[in-house]
Amino acid sequence: MSQEHRQEHPLKGVGFETRAIHAGYEPDPTTGAVIPPIYATSTYKQDGVGGLRGGYEYSRSANPTRTALEGALAALEEGERGFAFSSGLAAEDTLLRALCRPGDHAVIPDDAYGGTFRLFDKVAVPWGLKHSPAAVDDVDAVRASIRPGETKLVWIETPTNPMLSIGDIEALAAVAHEGGALLVVDNTFASPYLQQPLTLGADVVVHSTTKYVGGHSDVVGGALVVRDQEIAEKVTFHQNAMGAVPGPFDAFLTHRGIKTLAVRMDRHCDNAERVADFLTSHPKVDTVIYPGLETHPGHEVAQRQMRRFGGMVSFRCTDGEAAALRVCERAEVFTLGESLGGVESLIEHPGRMTHASVAGTDLEVPADLVRLSVGIENADDLIADLEQALD
Ligand SMILES: Cc1ncc(COP(=O)(O)O)c(C=O)c1O
Repeated sequence: MSQEHRQEHPLKGVGFETRAIHAGYEPDPTTGAVIPPIYATSTYKQDGVGGLRGGYEYSRSANPTRTALEGALAALEEGERGFAFSSGLAAEDTLLRALCRPGDHAVIPDDAYGGTFRLFDKVAVPWGLKHSPAAVDDVDAVRASIRPGETKLVWIETPTNPMLSIGDIEALAAVAHEGGALLVVDNTFASPYLQQPLTLGADVVVHSTTKYVGGHSDVVGGALVVRDQEIAEKVTFHQNAMGAVPGPFDAFLTHRGIKTLAVRMDRHCDNAERVADFLTSHPKVDTVIYPGLETHPGHEVAQRQMRRFGGMVSFRCTDGEAAALRVCERAEVFTLGESLGGVESLIEHPGRMTHASVAGTDLEVPADLVRLSVGIENADDLIADLEQALD
């Protein structure tokens, strides 16, 4: 990829919603197309050997539909550069290889997406990367887990999946940097509309764009947004060298989702607040876990670093695992399924579904836990559905 190939995000200083709609792309100079075309091409005609137009030579290295998405991602997270991948895990794998070497160590969350843990534990460990878990809501525990000279990354999710713990990004960035490590924040649950970790001192943001960023459960993708040029160069090299990039159709769909991120997130938050309130007073529900509730231990930190509290709600059932499984199976408007962040509401049992891969580890989740991805349907219908499923 040549130096000419640039991400357009000249919209610094304008509101989030404006960036979501305009960043990454100027209407096409030839046709005036206001939406980035799907460049279904693997290669590009050169104007003589090495004479590239706009820096494009081969679509693993760069493709204009993907460039537009990457520019939008960088603008939304207020980063130096954005990178799109074929899945969230592909983004994570590329980042680990770009920033770590065999023998290094990473601090990981003691509550994390099961697939992220599996990547660290079953793929990165055999490659030579060590890891140890720490609670993201305990700054001292994270500090104590850092091994000076060896720890290269402090990796957090906030809110975590599925226990919705909140990590104080600013404090954890300081702790990571004091220990000579970089702070990586998986911002999938919050989305860049609710939280921008790079502005709070994080070095890299990770997304499964499959979730809120894409927002319509119709595409799998991942992203990295980085704070500085040095990290950008390493990720640029590895993105091309490892090749886990999205095709132009997937890049187009993900970028289309971004344009409505702000309005979708506000409705997700409205509905989640209603659902959390309803569950709080239900006798079959033992504990409701939602960062917007004052009873949540991370509420104050969440209030400081998030615009609102998100669309994810977890709860524990008074009558144990069997009751949790029953609720998942009885729900009708909430679809029983993995994933999250789409316009439709989803319900799942993390212990047997998304987090089955952490069973028997420090990251094991409670068996009576149910996780909801609250969608943007009518809130009364969502509450009526949970009511019938719980009764
Ligand atoms: C918080 C979080 N990070 C990363 C991922 C992995 O993303 P993908 O499924 O797009 O590979 C997921 C998937 O559920 C997730 O929930």
